[in-house]
Amino acid sequence: MSAVRSTQVGIVGGGPAGLLLGHLLARQGIDSVVLEARSRPYVEQRVRAGVLEQGTVDLLKANDLGERLQREGLVHEGLELRFDGIGHRIPLAELTGGRAITVYGQQKVVADLTDARLAAGGDLLFEVGDVSLHAIDSDAPSIHFRHDGADHELRCEVIAGCDGYHGVSRDAIPAGAVQVYVREYPFAWLGILAEAPPSSEELIYCHHERGFALHSLRSPELSRLYLQCDPSDELDVWPDERIWEELRTRFATRDGFTLNEGPVVDKLITPMRSVVVEPMQYGRLFLAGDAAHTVPPTGAKGLNLAVNDVRILAGALADWLASGASEGIARYSEQCLEKVWRVQHFSWWMTSMLHRPAGRDPFEHKLQRAQLRYVTRSRAAATTLAENYVGLAGA
Ligand code: FAD
Ligand code: DHB
Repeated sequence: MSAVRSTQVGIVGGGPAGLLLGHLLARQGIDSVVLEARSRPYVEQRVRAGVLEQGTVDLLKANDLGERLQREGLVHEGLELRFDGIGHRIPLAELTGGRAITVYGQQKVVADLTDARLAAGGDLLFEVGDVSLHAIDSDAPSIHFRHDGADHELRCEVIAGCDGYHGVSRDAIPAGAVQVYVREYPFAWLGILAEAPPSSEELIYCHHERGFALHSLRSPELSRLYLQCDPSDELDVWPDERIWEELRTRFATRDGFTLNEGPVVDKLITPMRSVVVEPMQYGRLFLAGDAAHTVPPTGAKGLNLAVNDVRILAGALADWLASGASEGIARYSEQCLEKVWRVQHFSWWMTSMLHRPAGRDPFEHKLQRAQLRYVTRSRAAATTLAENYVGLAGA
């Protein structure tokens, strides 16, 4: 026997997309339940993205989620492209009429959202198991799951699939009802968090014949560094000393750049792929965030795209559930996909320009350097990068 209860919107997944959706719906008087497979400490400690677009920051602040973000977020008005041992600054704010990015770890966004949901009495269940979706093509869909050793059924008006790339929501859609576009890349990122002061005030995207490297940060005491590796690599072939040596080599400049080093407190290899599910809706199931699309991390877009989906979905669901206006939900997928494909292109372009090509193809290497020189010398080309990086308004 399952314990049965009802809500307006059943949300699968308590990552940034699911938590923010619950928060935005509650502010418009819509009831929801968020079901998260992992524990609260696990979700809040999972190190992932760190770059928030201007539009993401504006949305979080406008919805009372900006207090710690305002205090601890690091506003960056430029970034560096480094190649052939020379750094070139792209002045993001100057090229985009004052727009900037904010460095603020995803786990802080998740912790802020979790606090806000729980403080508002929101329904948020951690460590749920055996989640399955039912009758999504009817007007009475439901979610079955296990929690605290018991079976549960959550009856909903709508289900939001916010359970990321490895979730169950996307697979609940019958084969043939959606088209899935996929591009796999022949490389991965090894990411570390290190207790070392950042070696530069701004992010450094570094092209090197041994492979891409990225310098980022989380605070004045914590560096976040990534390097391109082989997707088949396991962490045990990357002891800390090898990582530092590789990073030193790739970031080296002609004028003697020094990389600050310190204890590695987190280490992970992430494969890189581009995926889009079209449409992002089937019956009463709406997909949002990584459940609907994944981008390679080179453009720092995954989290921002998830936030954009949820902004659109929350408005559309509130209109529909509160007053029966269905134009918004009818256009949900189309509206999101416009930005999804723009961002897919930008992420693919940054990835292709900066990573060591498969087989070290010398022709492609020459093309990359030609493109990097163009992007750093032409104001028009630099503006293209800048406006995509900070987030195009309205696209
Ligand atoms: P997620 O954050 O994946 O959240 C989905 C949630 O659903 C998770 O909490 C998961 O535990 C839960 N879940 C899964 N299955 C179920 C289930 N069956 N039932 C209930 N809950 C379930 N983006 C960047 O911009 N820059 C980066 O550097 C970067 N690094 C990344 C590193 C890694 C390892 C990964 C996986 C992603 C990274 N991303 C990065 C992408 C970015 O983190 C994602 O785009 C963002 O997390 C999307 O948010 P989301 O809420 O859609 O999905
Ligand atoms: C970070 C991650 C990215 O994918 C990126 O492009 C820039 C920064 C980060 O984790 O700080």
